[in-house]
This record gives sequence, C-alpha cells and structure tokens, in this order.
Amino acid sequence: MITLVLPKLHIIYPIGFILAIKTPNFRHFRDFDPEVQYMELSYTPLYHYNSSNTTAMYSLLGPALFASLVAAHGHVTNIVINGVSFDGWDINSYPYAQSPPVVVAWGTPNTANGFVSPDAYKSSDIICHLNATNAKGHAVVAAGDKVFLQWTPNWPESHHGPIIDYLASCGAGGCETVDKTTLKFFKIDGVGLVDETNVPGIWADDQLIAQNSGWMVEIPSTIAPGHYVLRHEMLALHGAGTEGGTQNYPQCFNLQITGSGTDQPSGVLGTDLYSPTDPGILLNIYTSLSTYIVPGPTLYSGAVSITQTTSAITASGTPVTGTGGATGGATTTSTSKTTTSTTLVTSTRTTTTTTSKVTTTTAAGGGGATQTLYGQCGGDNWTGPTACASPAACSSSNQWYSQCLPTAA
Ligand SMILES: *[C@@H]1O[C@H](CO)[C@@H](O)[C@H](O)[C@H]1NC(C)=O
Ligand SMILES: *[C@@H]1O[C@H](CO)[C@@H](O)[C@H](O)[C@H]1NC(C)=O
Repeated sequence: MITLVLPKLHIIYPIGFILAIKTPNFRHFRDFDPEVQYMELSYTPLYHYNSSNTTAMYSLLGPALFASLVAAHGHVTNIVINGVSFDGWDINSYPYAQSPPVVVAWGTPNTANGFVSPDAYKSSDIICHLNATNAKGHAVVAAGDKVFLQWTPNWPESHHGPIIDYLASCGAGGCETVDKTTLKFFKIDGVGLVDETNVPGIWADDQLIAQNSGWMVEIPSTIAPGHYVLRHEMLALHGAGTEGGTQNYPQCFNLQITGSGTDQPSGVLGTDLYSPTDPGILLNIYTSLSTYIVPGPTLYSGAVSITQTTSAITASGTPVTGTGGATGGATTTSTSKTTTSTTLVTSTRTTTTTTSKVTTTTAAGGGGATQTLYGQCGGDNWTGPTACASPAACSSSNQWYSQCLPTAA
C-alpha cells in the first residue's frame, strides 16, 4: 500500500468522472505519431480519505486510471461527380439521428473518426468500416467519368500510406439492400509510394493533402453498367512496422454506373482483401524501400491511372433511390424498361456545359414525364424521359448520355 501524506483538505471526490484532455498520442514513441489526439481518461478514485488526523491520509487502494485513445483522423465528407456534390455520412449527427438523411455513403457509428485494424481484416468491419450499414441512395456516374472523394481537412502528415479504390457489383437488386459480406471487390486504383527521395517519401496520401484533402478516381469506361459499391480506402502506415499497427480507413459509396462497357471483373470478398502480414501492410516505412506493394488483389486490367486534381462544386446532388432505370450489374443486357426514371438524377458534365450542343426536346419518351435538373434525358437505349423540367434543356454529352442542364441566362 502506498500512503500519501497531504495537507488536510475537505474534498469530496466524485465517484468516477471522465476527463477529456488533449494530449500527445501516448503511443508516440512506438509509432512516431506527432499529431495531437484526444485521450480519454476515466478516473475512478480508489483513495481512502482519512480526516481523523491533522493531516489527511490518502491511501491509494488500487490502480485507478484508465486511458483509451480516441483517434481523430478523418472520413469522406462528400463526393463530387462532374461538379455535383453528394453528401457523405456525417459522423457528427447521423449516428444520433432516428432517421438520418438519405445519402450515397454507407453509414457507420464510427463517431470517433477511427480506423479498422489488421486484427479485424477477417471481420465485416473491414468491408465498409465499423458496423457499416448500406447507403440508402446512390449517385449516377457514367463509366469513364471521375469521382472526387473529399476528406475532412487536416489528414495527419505523418500518416503516410496508399490510397486504394475498389468496385463491387451489387447485382440487379442494387446496393441499398445488398449483403455487404457477399460483395466481391476488384481494384480500380491503387497508389502507394510515389517518391522515396526523402525517406519516408511522398505517398498517395501526401498527394491527397496537396489536393485539398481529396482524391480523384476514374470509373473505368469498360465496366458494365449497373449498381456498384465504390470502396475507397486510405491506409496509414506510420505504425506498420509492428504487426497490427497499420490503420485502414475504408469508406463506401453506392454508384449506378451507366455506359456501354461489358466487363464484369471478378473480385474478392472484403474479408479476403488483406492479411496482417502482407508486404504492403507489415513494413517499416522509415527505412529505404526499393518498392512498395500496394495491398489487395491485382489491379483490374481496365483501371486508369490519372493525375490528381481537385473538383469544383457547381451543384449539389440528390441521391437516387431504388433500382429504376438501372441495368443489373450482373447482367450484360441493357434492355430494362424504365418506369421510375423520373427520379433519376445524375451527374453533370461541367466541363462540357458551354460547348455541348443544347437540344430542347419536346417529345417525352418516358410517358410524358419530365426529367429533373441534372437528370439523364437521352443517350443510346435511354427509355426514360427526354424532356427537361423548365428552365433546363436536354444537352447531349455524348452518344450514350444526355442530361438536363440549366438553360443559359
Ligand atoms: C458494433 O456492433 C457490435 C455487434 O453488434 C456491437 O457490440 C458494438 O457495440 C457496435 N459498435 C458500435 C460503435 O456501435
Ligand atoms: C443499345 O442496344 C443495342 C441493341 O440492344 C446494343 O447493341 C447496344 O450495345 C446498346 N447500347 C448501349 C449504349 O447500351
């Protein structure tokens, strides 16, 4: 027993209180993590106060301090497709809401901005983050277009690592109800060590930091149309020298991919993507690496490597729900009859807005319905509405895709 002799103080110690203090990560010495994190100290007084003397006696009866780290790193706040921004999952409010808004991002109770550790690679948490639940809506994107994933600012500079993107077909039933444990992911993008001149070098996440905390990924034009989960992931390797020290930050979004591609690449289950001892997972990035092997299955042959850029936001998008107007990702035919396509809101092509030919169509192909702003209104085999609700006009982007754009003022 340790006895502390203190001046007599008439203090009533509360029974169990929590201090939230800002303190350097106390694993700092192990993982070289210089950024400040929240550490929660839960303090249970196990001291015995003896006031029968002129000096009070505080006897430490047992261990009293419990500390747990609350990581505060990041998540994707929104995605931008051709200038149209779709909200992500707001960890600060949606987990507490009875019916959170319909968004294109998968939900998670990960309010602490935390990560998934290698010891959870065999658990469903690695698929789309902690206890993730299906996004209730989706965004429409044409194969060949790019998706910009906007992360929260201030990704810690020390958290070097790769950025990896996958797609998994949800089949004809769509992604709003798909069982995540059946999704098979194929890799469409994987950037790791970019420049090693100054160890630990420049990594994909450093490029992300340089692009306003965002990452651009191109949806391969060869992918068959359908409903897909986009699994976007950052890995932090600052602690990867110790098995279990890598941090995975997977983020999932529902996309309906349109186009004329036919590829249906095979993929692997989320729980089979990684092993804690993969060469790209267990490694010391503070030594010179001649090469870095991006973890996960091999890159899909149609994957497109792009130069990172940001994406200006020109409009906010409304998530589409249901599978109307879709062609199932698991089928090669695209002959579905569209009856609910009036809800189809899709991406804009801001770069072509000023140059594309604007054709105002009066004949409505979708049973007299008009398409909403930024919705699809034409293209090969389009069976939905071809008229746009005023003041928008149907503008042809290419052979496969026309959309309702605001008429120029
Ligand atoms: C995640 O799900 C597990 C199992 O249902 C549950 O025990 C745990 O509390 C959940 N975590 C969060 C943060 O909701
Ligand atoms: C349109 O339909 C025809 C005939 O069914 C098909 O050959 C063609 O690939 C389709 N085009 C697109 C863009 O889906």
